[in-house]
Amino acid sequence: MIIRFQKLVLKNFKSHRDLVVEFGDLTKISGDNAKGKSSIPEAISWTLYGTDVLGSKLQKETEPTPVNYDFDELKVELLLTVDEKQILLARGIHKGKAKFWINDVPSKATEFDQLVSSMFDKDIFLSLYNPSYFPSLHWETQRKLILQYVTVPANKEVLAQMPATQADKLTDLLKKNSLTDLEKIHRENKTNQDKAYIAAQSRTKTLQEQLQRLPDVQVDVIAAKAEIEKLYKQIREVEIITDSAGETNRKYNGLQVKIQSLQEQITASAQKWPSLRDEVIEDTCRTCKRPLDEESVDAVKADKEQRKGQYQANHKALVDQRKALELELAKMEYIDVSEQVEKIRELGQLKQKFEDAIRSHSQSQQLEQQIIQAKTDEEATLASRNESVFILDAIKAFLAKEAEMQATKVQELFTTLSIRLFKQNKGDGELKPDFEIEMDGKAYRKLSLSESIRAGLELRDVLSQQSGIVAPCFVDNAESITRFTQPNGQLMTCRVVAGQELKIETEEETR
Ligand SMILES: Nc1ncnc2c1ncn2[C@@H]1O[C@H](COP(=O)(O)OP(=O)(O)OP(=O)(O)O)[C@@H](O)[C@H]1O
Ligand SMILES: [Mg+2]
Repeated sequence: MIIRFQKLVLKNFKSHRDLVVEFGDLTKISGDNAKGKSSIPEAISWTLYGTDVLGSKLQKETEPTPVNYDFDELKVELLLTVDEKQILLARGIHKGKAKFWINDVPSKATEFDQLVSSMFDKDIFLSLYNPSYFPSLHWETQRKLILQYVTVPANKEVLAQMPATQADKLTDLLKKNSLTDLEKIHRENKTNQDKAYIAAQSRTKTLQEQLQRLPDVQVDVIAAKAEIEKLYKQIREVEIITDSAGETNRKYNGLQVKIQSLQEQITASAQKWPSLRDEVIEDTCRTCKRPLDEESVDAVKADKEQRKGQYQANHKALVDQRKALELELAKMEYIDVSEQVEKIRELGQLKQKFEDAIRSHSQSQQLEQQIIQAKTDEEATLASRNESVFILDAIKAFLAKEAEMQATKVQELFTTLSIRLFKQNKGDGELKPDFEIEMDGKAYRKLSLSESIRAGLELRDVLSQQSGIVAPCFVDNAESITRFTQPNGQLMTCRVVAGQELKIETEEETR
């Protein structure tokens, strides 16, 4: 895109009541102080944007409305061409109200603004037009403006410049995730594994302490099991004796209890005998007291005899039963098994000792197994953590390399200026975006007036080349610079010449 100014008409703009400027490739404005030189480039930014040459909205004090003479209307007309297309833009103030014209047609502010912004970007235009504009922007805007034309090196290009181990790892990972995502994933994993590693270490320690607390028993498990089997058999053998003795002894005791019970019945029976034996046979009637006849007395006697016989039969049966049981008991023998019981106890204790040994042994073995597992876990967490650290380092290296390559690309655009795109964080050494223009190792803000104009001209030329936009440029106070390279596009210079009225000369480039 080529933007050219053709003609500027000022009516009652600041000190200019009526001025026509016809532009050439070079437009030289000269004159003594306060002759209205700077007002000419100012009128252009005011027409396009209603601002000063630094893009700032004008305040009441800086407004171009004439303050020291009467006037009817303030109006600035700018005739320009964008590529081959010619356009006449005009802005004015009438009775305090802003007015706009597009190709002489009165227009609304929004229409006018829209047209201007559709022609070219304000930041780019003002950067090209005024060499002091770009350095006055916020550093982030400056960085964005410069970098928007510098392509970021492709991942492949960056990886090719990195150590193979890091490059191979990232190449693989980048197939699945973006660099930003990888960084998030591995930052999180590192934090998690750091915690997990501490937990795994403490688990191993706890298990090891548990193992140390177990009695140290060296035991041949197979032999011990055989020993237990042997002891079990021995116990069983003795138990057969005690079991059968138990049977016999239970019977023996049972007989004793039965004999005892029979003896009690016999004693009770014997006590009843004297009263039956001594029972008196009555020979008188109990109620009428008359003597009983012989037949009746005999009946009573027979009854007594019959009861005595019954008693004696019963008594004898009890005694016979007892005798039979006593006979049976006499044939039996009570077996004493206390020796065997003691033996079982001893064998049992011995068996228990072997069993305890086997149990502690298997507990130790279990703990040893758990310790091996815990150590494996520990190593796995450490490996995963270290992998993430490696990847994070590789990402850092990638970003640093990418930044370096980008910086080289940007730097290659400049001849005398050096551009810094990043700064290193003091803490973690990470690269943070930054923007600094330097000339001979001095920051832009430290440059002298002529140095800053020269730096500004180099910057605007780079921007012009990068954006492909050729636009006019002005150098105010040009007398303060002894030499500067001619920028591309039209140039307008304002130069103080003592004792001279305002003079505007143009020169065409001879090619
Ligand atoms: N609103 C205004 N109305 C009238 N005159 C103004 C207004 N604003 C500025 N001026 C005057 O216009 C004159 C020209 O100013 P300008 O800045 O264009 O001069 P200059 O030639 O660039 O001077 P210098 O050599 O000092 O840079 C000055 O006298 C200034 O005071
Ligand atoms: Mg001036």
